[in-house]
Amino acid sequence: MKRVYINKISDHVDQEVTLKGWLYNIRSSGKLMFPEFRDGTGIIQGVVVKSAVSEKVWEDFSKLTQESSLSVKGTVSKHPKKDNVYELQVSDIEIINIAEPYPITPKEHGVEFLMDRRHLWMRSPRQVAILRVRNEIIQSIRDYMYNNGFVLFDTPIFTPNACEGTSTLFATDYFDMGKAYLSQSGQLYAEAGALALGKVYTLGPTFRAENSMTRRHLTEFWMMEPEVAFCDIDEDMDLIEDFMEYVVQRVLKNCNTELTELGRDLSKLENVRKPFPRITYDEAIEILIKKDIPLIRKTANGEEHIRPFPWGEDFGAPHEEAIVEDFDKPVMVHRWPAIAKSFYMKRDPNNPEIALGVDVLAPEGFGEIIGGSQREDDLKELEKRIIEHDLPMEEFQWFLDLRRYGSVPHSGFGLGIERMVNWICNLENIREAIPFARRPNRIRP
Ligand code: 4AD
Ligand code: MG
Repeated sequence: MKRVYINKISDHVDQEVTLKGWLYNIRSSGKLMFPEFRDGTGIIQGVVVKSAVSEKVWEDFSKLTQESSLSVKGTVSKHPKKDNVYELQVSDIEIINIAEPYPITPKEHGVEFLMDRRHLWMRSPRQVAILRVRNEIIQSIRDYMYNNGFVLFDTPIFTPNACEGTSTLFATDYFDMGKAYLSQSGQLYAEAGALALGKVYTLGPTFRAENSMTRRHLTEFWMMEPEVAFCDIDEDMDLIEDFMEYVVQRVLKNCNTELTELGRDLSKLENVRKPFPRITYDEAIEILIKKDIPLIRKTANGEEHIRPFPWGEDFGAPHEEAIVEDFDKPVMVHRWPAIAKSFYMKRDPNNPEIALGVDVLAPEGFGEIIGGSQREDDLKELEKRIIEHDLPMEEFQWFLDLRRYGSVPHSGFGLGIERMVNWICNLENIREAIPFARRPNRIRP
């Protein structure tokens, strides 16, 4: 007999099939039982009629507890009233394991309770939907990159130096060579890759020792970073919008079931079509000033609200929300104050206070999902930046070589995978966007 998966069940109407999975729920009324089965691809309701099955089968069903594993046989039928819903008219069951009383029941649980049981929580329909959307996002990123001539370029996790500031490094002992730091970004290595292969991308875990318990920060997250030789900041933004449109539209097309399970407003995602609005940092500041959004600075005895928002400061969540409020697409904020950005960004030839960086802010207040820039390609300028940022010149000699031997204008960006999942799935908190979240207060399970 054919073993089938629930998401393909509509191909098997009126056929006898075998499903392997777990008991999600069960209701009984007299001589009928309605078990719900899940197999990781979906949930289907079974119908067990006492008079139609053996005594043993009926008894086995009475024994089943939530999350017991099983193999079940039956005939697929269309739901008598609902379109596109199928049922299994059960004929036989083989119990594989009777589950102990399951700690997660369909009632409400606190999030920390669920996070402590993340290894089980991820079986719930909502979590399954999120993880399937994540899978589709990553697969569509890989397909876009491959089909557009980018070469996958895997960069190291153990690194001898910082990429995104020395204050957020995780250190570990590395034999007799001193400290190694967990990578904050594969970018510096991807730059070497771009000058070797033309267009490359990295996709891997990155680490930030930021002690922030916000809805958007993880200490370990996945980043996708393309890097392109002979590409300036404006071409970088062309790439960003083309790439994002592809990924979002493909997820919409292929994850309709999951997004519906999550209650996502699909029309908001349908809007994500290029061109995206491009505004300069100065224009973004004007929006903040017009809306009277202050900079909030922590002080010894509380908070200080600074009005008008001062030029040169980075944005926090309330600023990002105010900036995107009047747009229905991702907003690209470009040409930033150099003091707010990393050492490697190229300065605007017309204004050395400006760095050729771009942040992409997701619509609906989901905040920054991409950070990118044109890179400094001049040897002397880059040496100056390394000194200004107090970085160890010795460790950057190989990176400076990229400016010594055939330097070219080049650009790239980094997309936070979990930030993307957060936005596309409309999650309240980024901890649900990755199978096992790592945050300042959580390393288990
Ligand atoms: O803006 P960031 O720091 O940029 C870089 O790392 C560059 N080297 C990228 C590049 O140009 N190749 O980080 C890029 C993205 C952010 O926009 C955000 O989506 C995500 O990485 N990100 C985080 N996601 C979750 N938790 C954190 N703590 C994150 N920090 C950054
Ligand atoms: Mg950033």
